[in-house]
Amino acid sequence: MQASESIAQIVYKQPSTLAAELIAYEEQYGAHNYHPLDVVIERAAGAWVVDVDGRKYLDFLAAYSAVNQGHCHPAILKAFTEQVHKVTLTSRAFRNDQLPLLLKDLHDLTGFDMALPMNSGVEAVETALKAARKWGYTVKGIPADQAEIIVLSNNFHGRTISVVGFSSEQQYRNGFGPFTPGFRHVPMGDVEALRAAITPNTCAFFFEPIQGEAGILIPPAGYLQQVEAICRENNVLLMLDEIQSGLGRTGKLFAYQHEGISPDVVVIGKALSGGYYPVSAVLSSREVLGVFAPGDHGSTFGGNPLACAVARAALKVVVDEDLSARSATLGEYALSRLQQLKSPILKEVRGKGLWLAIELHVPARPLCEALKDRGLLCKETHDTVIRLAPPLIIEEADLAWALDQIEAVIQGYAA
Ligand SMILES: Cc1ncc(COP(=O)(O)O)c(C=O)c1O
Repeated sequence: MQASESIAQIVYKQPSTLAAELIAYEEQYGAHNYHPLDVVIERAAGAWVVDVDGRKYLDFLAAYSAVNQGHCHPAILKAFTEQVHKVTLTSRAFRNDQLPLLLKDLHDLTGFDMALPMNSGVEAVETALKAARKWGYTVKGIPADQAEIIVLSNNFHGRTISVVGFSSEQQYRNGFGPFTPGFRHVPMGDVEALRAAITPNTCAFFFEPIQGEAGILIPPAGYLQQVEAICRENNVLLMLDEIQSGLGRTGKLFAYQHEGISPDVVVIGKALSGGYYPVSAVLSSREVLGVFAPGDHGSTFGGNPLACAVARAALKVVVDEDLSARSATLGEYALSRLQQLKSPILKEVRGKGLWLAIELHVPARPLCEALKDRGLLCKETHDTVIRLAPPLIIEEADLAWALDQIEAVIQGYAA
């Protein structure tokens, strides 16, 4: 599907009877932990999705960067269907023939010694935190139960109790305490605050190299290199959450590569499966992941053969289609076009690769609704930011069309 085909036909304000019925079921029978736009997607291909009424929309969120490879990528579909007919789940009580191949692919692509596969992103985050603590006790020599991990303010690493416990966002925490101790916050970009927060019991500094949910917040140039030096001086693990920023999204395979650093631990997820299946992993050295002994950690589905076959195919697409370079080139074009916008409601436009934010002086939701009515799906983050993250396979003509819609909605905004 392409923008050039019949996109002009879209003028979509009210859901049809079928869409309204499905929305009503979801509202009645599902917990209300999300506030989705009222578009009911039935199928998708590449950067385009189609709703139950046959209307097409360009996806400018890519399932929070899980479908960097585009929806229903045929190469991943092939791997998925072939594997589904062979074996899908063995548990790690036994070995399977796909896990070793994924581990080898991850090593060859990223250079890390080892990987530990999980399913959702937050499970890999929890795994990385457990590895850091155990490394702290067994390698660094921190006294039992005293390990501390430093995190950033405005972080987002998922939704388990431990992880929301070190969020600085009140809504993520309210009503869910008591929380896991052992976390300290520092502001992003403030290296002196990091230095001051480190104690002899600090095992790790864990953060997103660009903060996604917070609104694509990019640290000042040089921050990652300074952080690396501080972590090395203090024997503190430098651990990055690249679940959203990784696998091409920012114009490099990993966002940390923009500053040429060598983190000790990197957590990946989302696009690791291209949207077919929840697959995540912790990448690290033998020294860090080697702390796990049989029985220390596990997951029934982690490293299952279906997940591994899908992840191998998804990684191959990232490489074969040079998605990082595509993201860099198209992202530069998108950023320069957005930076030319002039409007009293615009506060700031920023981005790295095809990961951009339009920060407004007004609530972003009505603009996302207006964009949806024009056939473009974006989602607000933190009330006043529109996050733009199309699949990285997007055609340049489709991107240009999307930017036209954004421009029209911002210029046409009436308070
Ligand atoms: C940086 C980051 N870490 C962790 C997560 C959690 O991933 P999941 O929703 O798969 O648990 C997300 C999800 O948006 C994320 O953006």
